[in-house]
Amino acid sequence: MNVLFIGYGRIGSAIGEAWLATGLVDTISAIDPFQLPDLRATRYVDLQALAQQPFDLIVIAVKPNKVCSVAASLPDAICKGAVVISVAAGITTQTLDHALARRCPVVRAMPNTPVLVNAGCTGLYADARLDDARRAQVSQLFDSVGRSYWLGQESLLDAVTAISGSGPAYYHLFTEALARAGVLLGLNPQLAQDLASQTALGAARQQTQEHTNIVDLRSAVTSPNGTTAAAIATFEQDRALRRLIEAATLAAYLRSQELSAVNLDI
Ligand SMILES: NC(=O)c1ccc[n+]([C@@H]2O[C@H](COP(=O)([O-])OP(=O)(O)OC[C@H]3O[C@@H](n4cnc5c(N)ncnc54)[C@H](OP(=O)(O)O)[C@@H]3O)[C@@H](O)[C@H]2O)c1
Repeated sequence: MNVLFIGYGRIGSAIGEAWLATGLVDTISAIDPFQLPDLRATRYVDLQALAQQPFDLIVIAVKPNKVCSVAASLPDAICKGAVVISVAAGITTQTLDHALARRCPVVRAMPNTPVLVNAGCTGLYADARLDDARRAQVSQLFDSVGRSYWLGQESLLDAVTAISGSGPAYYHLFTEALARAGVLLGLNPQLAQDLASQTALGAARQQTQEHTNIVDLRSAVTSPNGTTAAAIATFEQDRALRRLIEAATLAAYLRSQELSAVNLDI
């Protein structure tokens, strides 16, 4: 499979280099103004050298405000037979389709930054033109950098953005706060951070084991009148933590909807 990336920054290169490493794709041609060292993709500064080359997949991984101009400028010969995947936040398939003048089936992907360590989580939505074989191919590619999930409605990508797209930052904030609490209890800052981060990793590994019930996991470490119970009672007082999380994710969800609405006008 030959893949073209337009934009090979943080997200683009993390995904592309992982695809090359797993052998799922044969070649990656990457257009990006930046020359990054140690990349396996072949880098080009513009499309000129590739103008007659066909690709199976074109991944657009530039900032959202550049997606439409990039899509519109793709030459017909490059688009022919290709599926276009956009990872840009807030650019709807309708907007992308319009910019591409309906030349290719389009997929919208919402990955998150843990794709950088092959533990990402990607929400996917495709228009009706994507056939089953191509759909399976796209799943396999995104599963190689974590896990992928197809959505039945595009609007659900706003919820995916609020939960997993922005989610790594929530966990980082929780770890930061937990480490800070450790310092207040007398631990040195490095040890406090190591304890908080390693605990996040351990908890995530337990949560992602098959047939795991998260409430059971919590109950198993919460003996009546024990130390964990004392902390959980504080979190649960007036549903304080849950209410905060619901309010925070609603804010992210509404912002994602707002950005999609703005980008529809591009
Ligand atoms: N970071 C995340 O957590 C995350 C998660 C999900 C989705 N995304 C989406 O992924 C996209 C890329 O984000 P990122 O964090 O990877 O950004 P990034 O590191 O800035 O990467 C984008 C790259 O594309 C280059 N570029 C700009 N215009 C170009 C053009 N016309 N042709 C070719 N390359 C061009 C940029 O160069 P210049 O810097 O010179 O412009 C930059 O190197 C965004 O649309 C974002 O919404 C990001």
